[in-house]
Order: sequence, then C-alpha cells, then structure tokens
Amino acid sequence: MTKPLTKDDYRPDDVTVHRDPARLNRVIRALRNAGRNVALVPTMGALHAGHRQLIREAQVMQNTVVVVSIFVNPLQFGPNEDLAKYPRQFESDVDICRAERAGIVFAPSVEDMYPEGAQVTVHPGPLGDELEGAVRPGHFEGVLTVVSKLFNIVQPTYAVFGQKDYQQLQLIHKMARDLNFPLDVVGVPTVREHDGLALSSRNAYLTPEQRQHAVTLSAALTAGAHVSSQGADAVLKAAHDVLAQTPEIEVDYLELRGVDLGPAPENGDARLLVAARVGSTRLIDNIAVLLGESDEKGE
Ligand code: PAF
Repeated sequence: MTKPLTKDDYRPDDVTVHRDPARLNRVIRALRNAGRNVALVPTMGALHAGHRQLIREAQVMQNTVVVVSIFVNPLQFGPNEDLAKYPRQFESDVDICRAERAGIVFAPSVEDMYPEGAQVTVHPGPLGDELEGAVRPGHFEGVLTVVSKLFNIVQPTYAVFGQKDYQQLQLIHKMARDLNFPLDVVGVPTVREHDGLALSSRNAYLTPEQRQHAVTLSAALTAGAHVSSQGADAVLKAAHDVLAQTPEIEVDYLELRGVDLGPAPENGDARLLVAARVGSTRLIDNIAVLLGESDEKGE
C-alpha cells in the first residue's frame, strides 16, 4: 500500500533531502497520485551554473516537482580516475537546490544504491566503446546502470541532462528508447564561461595557468563551426590548427560525427567533439555544426 505523504517527506516551500531509495519511491508515487509531474536532474554534485540551468529547465512544465539526485557513482570511474578526489560539497549543493526551488534532493549512499555491488548492469552497445568509451572502458556501462536505477526509483515524467556530455546524452536517449523507459529525455545546451570554457565540476582542478590553456577546447570547436559551410575537412583542419597552438594540452580525440554519433553526413547537422588532458585534468566539449550549407541566411 502506498504510504501517505507526511510533512517530512515533501515540503512544497523547501527542499527535502532523501537518502533511502525505497522511501523516496513511496513519496514519488504519492506525488504522482496527487497529480504532480516529476522531473529528474541526475548529478554527481559539485553543482555550478550549468546544473542550475538544468534545474530551471526541469521546471518549465507546470505542476512539476524537481528531484535533483546527488550521487558520485563509483561504477562510472576507472581504477586510475578521480573518484576519491571528485569534489564533494553537499551542504552548498543543497543550498543551490533550495535557491533554484528544486523540491527534493536524493542523495543515497553507495550501499543504498549497490547493496550487493553491481552484478547486473546495463550494457551500452557499440557506441559505448567509442570516443569517451575508448579512453574510459566501462564508463558508460556505469553511467547507464546508475541512470536506469535513478529512472526506476524516481519514475520521472522527464529527465534533464546537459549537452556537454553529448555522448552520454545520446546513450541515455538510446537506453530510454531501447529499454522502454516511459519518460522524455531532455538535453540542455552547455553553459559557458565568458571566454567559452564549458562549465564542468572538473574545472575546479585547474590551476590558473591550466585554466587559460583549457579555453583552447571551446576555441577549437568554435573555429571549426565557423567554417562549417566549407565541409568536414575544413572544420577538422580549423579545429586542429587551434588545438596545435597550445602544446600544453594533450588531445585524446577531435571527431566530427552525425548528431546521433554515427558517421558525419556530407551536408547537414553534425557534431564536433573534443577531449583533451590539461595537466592531469581531462576535459570534454562539443558543438553543433551545419555542414556544407551556408548559415548566412542572406536576409
Ligand atoms: O553527468 C553526470 O553528472 C553523471 O554521469 C550522471 C548522469 C549523474 C550519472 O552519474
């Protein structure tokens, strides 16, 4: 039987923190029975203006309770990655959620999410081994596993993700479709610093000098997009030329793909993606490009 809402479970005037998946699931079912929509914003915390934008986007539909999950998912980190040092700032994250009028913060422990470890997982298919997946084996299996668990626990009407993690967004779209999750996946444009650097929790690792080098990623993407009417070769050359000007960054890949991350079309919508190491920090970014068609409207 569905446990009725109590004032501790959900307070419309403040953010409520839940840690127990089963209890949250009961609260959500009560909210949905009361006619509320539920929007999920999955995060690993260390919230910044990009996450604020996701929370705002989640509120566009009337009568919606926004659930922000804060969980640093060990399953998506490789053995030599930054799980231990990943920034954790729970109190200020909750303050941000409150300021953005999110209704619920879901912050489970690792034991809550993986009581017996993770034996059954979600396999991402071939796209999971490309681009980020080629450099970070197992990463997307970890992402899709935790996201599918969050979908089942929170049962959102829609779930909101940033376009900065473009391959992640495409794989989550695919998973929702292939596994019949009854929800809409919404992708939100990347929020950037004044000079173009994409906001990321990992930017906090950068020294002031590395921060200056890091802007090369977005500069390269913009240079590529700028010549998109000249076709794929011109886009890649322009972006490569910009990256080559900053030898301090080590490029993992620069690739032009279709919007679904299949092969890039000769003409039409495509995506230019880059990943690079700046010192020991790995950054990714991407941009939409319109290949072979002038974006000058002539009006
Ligand atoms: O994009 C992220 O922050 C994470 O990959 C996500 C979607 C919250 C899953 O842990």
